[in-house]
Amino acid sequence: MNANITAIGKFLPEKIIKNSEFEKYLDTSDEWIVTRTGIKERRKLESGKASSYMAIKAIDQLLDRRNITANEIDAIIVSTITPDMVFPSTACIIQNHFKINNCWGFDLSAACSGFLFGLETADALIRSNKYKKVVVVGVDKMSSILDYSDRNTSVLFGDGAGAVLFEPSNKYGVIDCILGVDGAGSKYLNMPAGGSLIPASYETVKNNMHFVKQNGATVFKSAVKGMYSITKKIMENNNITKQNLNLFIAHQANKRIIDATAKKIGLDENQIIINIDKYANTTAASIPIALCDAYDNKMLKIGDNLILTAFGAGFTWGSCLIKWGINNE
Ligand code: ACO
Repeated sequence: MNANITAIGKFLPEKIIKNSEFEKYLDTSDEWIVTRTGIKERRKLESGKASSYMAIKAIDQLLDRRNITANEIDAIIVSTITPDMVFPSTACIIQNHFKINNCWGFDLSAACSGFLFGLETADALIRSNKYKKVVVVGVDKMSSILDYSDRNTSVLFGDGAGAVLFEPSNKYGVIDCILGVDGAGSKYLNMPAGGSLIPASYETVKNNMHFVKQNGATVFKSAVKGMYSITKKIMENNNITKQNLNLFIAHQANKRIIDATAKKIGLDENQIIINIDKYANTTAASIPIALCDAYDNKMLKIGDNLILTAFGAGFTWGSCLIKWGINNE
């Protein structure tokens, strides 16, 4: 029994922030951002709205497409590093919005690899035979943890959500997943304050400690190495080659990281999807949004082999092989 993706949805806030916005007040340029990252613009959710708002919109689209009500959902896994609140979980907020009976769920923190960690968990729940419909939503309101005076980080991220419904199938779905963590990488990408180690205080706010901090060059090198080795491993383990891989969906953190990984594997341009130009790095939402874009643009055929690969804060990483199971002709 596999966990098959039977519906998918996404949500991107309407407000577009172009690179030129940053040129107005930071020592940066559209040219620098485009050549170093591939990003042209990103979306920003209005203040007063939170990650649950975007997750609910993405789930709404998924339910519409599957033609079911939310009440059929057995479990909700919310992959995010920007939950509405530390507690209760965003999963509870979503359950309450839809008033789902007999459902459980939780938030999962694995940054850019969060969606893949959720996917592996959903696969296990479906395989347990106890749950028939599991929703995994990758969502992040990165604008809520960005220091807009820091050119090293503020230009890189955007807001968004992508949601996927898993159901049992004996033909399609998750074939294999390889995941990993290495906490030695935590010092290169983190948000220092707001947890139990350094709770919020006047000092933490004054010192900008509630924002993303990144050593870009170190993360870049680790991501290129990590994304390639994990993708190569899942291909070798499952006899996937350039010839029988239909689409490589990489976490959209930097176009140069995706291009370098694809080049090392020997993939052609039509075997990869790039949408970082429109949305920037949406962290846990990046892979499900890219998957949804591929679906919306009719790039996926039933039976296609897809590899989803991510690398992010933690460090965390993962690569998953999926046999696509929705007919979208
Ligand atoms: N505009 C202009 N100059 C900039 C900007 C900017 N927006 N940002 C940084 N610079 C400068 C730096 O200050 C540095 O200047 P210096 O040499 O005077 O010190 C110079 O550009 C070069 O910096 P590098 O870090 O070497 O630039 P690089 O080519 O590595 O690109 C980037 C930087 C885009 C951040 C890249 O390192 C990167 O993409 N890193 C990985 C990001 C990633 O994958 N994150 C993981 C996922 S995120 C998550 O999990 C939450």
